[in-house]
Amino acid sequence: MNRFLDVAIAAAREAGTILRAEFDRPKEISYKGEVDIVTESDRRSEALIVARLRENFPDHAIIAEEGGSGSVAAGAKYCWHVDPLDGTTNFAHGYPCFAASIGLVEDGEPIVGVVFNPVADEFFSAARGKGAFLNGKPIHVSPVEKLAHSLVATGFPTHQRKRSANIEYYWEFTLRSHGVRRDGSAALDLCSVACGRFDAFWEFRLNSWDTAAGMLLVREAGGTVTDLAGKPYRPGGPDMLASNGRIHAEMKDVAAQIAERTGEAPEKLS
Ligand code: IPD
Ligand code: CA
Ligand code: CA
Repeated sequence: MNRFLDVAIAAAREAGTILRAEFDRPKEISYKGEVDIVTESDRRSEALIVARLRENFPDHAIIAEEGGSGSVAAGAKYCWHVDPLDGTTNFAHGYPCFAASIGLVEDGEPIVGVVFNPVADEFFSAARGKGAFLNGKPIHVSPVEKLAHSLVATGFPTHQRKRSANIEYYWEFTLRSHGVRRDGSAALDLCSVACGRFDAFWEFRLNSWDTAAGMLLVREAGGTVTDLAGKPYRPGGPDMLASNGRIHAEMKDVAAQIAERTGEAPEKLS
């Protein structure tokens, strides 16, 4: 386990250093979809991370967002889920909220997770059963007991432009909490839950590379991660709810009320 964590830490640090340097330069942007952008930095960061993982763990599978990992090794026990730049839209607009995120999954469950925000110089790391850390110091979820006293976060997918039913959730949780933040990096949102800045985070249709590392950080920091109905969440599942554990039931109940009102179960929404 230590070797997995060490390699992930080294790769994320190297990738973050590339992203930090390129953040100050003009960006080369291309479009994957109508508003879904990708930069040269996404690709460079991914190539670096994938190369480091391949060198060290040739028999592991790798799923990386920009597709630079080649074919997935069928039947591999370990699979790395790599988001080389989570928060691309922020990055491209000069908003300093983005990270490299690397999670290692064994039999569907994350066992190693690292997320590096190179602008804030914040390095989040966790290994299953070993706790969660920010720059080497242990972190814990918040002690907030009630949704009414909480600061929560969500996000909206970049790959689609149609109306998102998450607006209903955004609206409802805004009325019931101190506020809802929408910061544009799911990996960092999860880290903010892990270190107690946010009390909860939810989103629909995230990919495994967005959540594999961050969900482990939340769990290892003492929080709870499920889907919005309280059922088990696996990286890439249709909807996720991560919280300090204390407001989880309340969040879930509100989600159920919204689902009833809108007539659609959360997993049908996007
Ligand atoms: C996006 C970010 C954003 C979330 C989107 C993701 P990307 O990832 O995590 O916060 O709302 O759903 O796609 O495209 O910047 O890697
Ligand atoms: Ca992402
Ligand atoms: Ca990305």
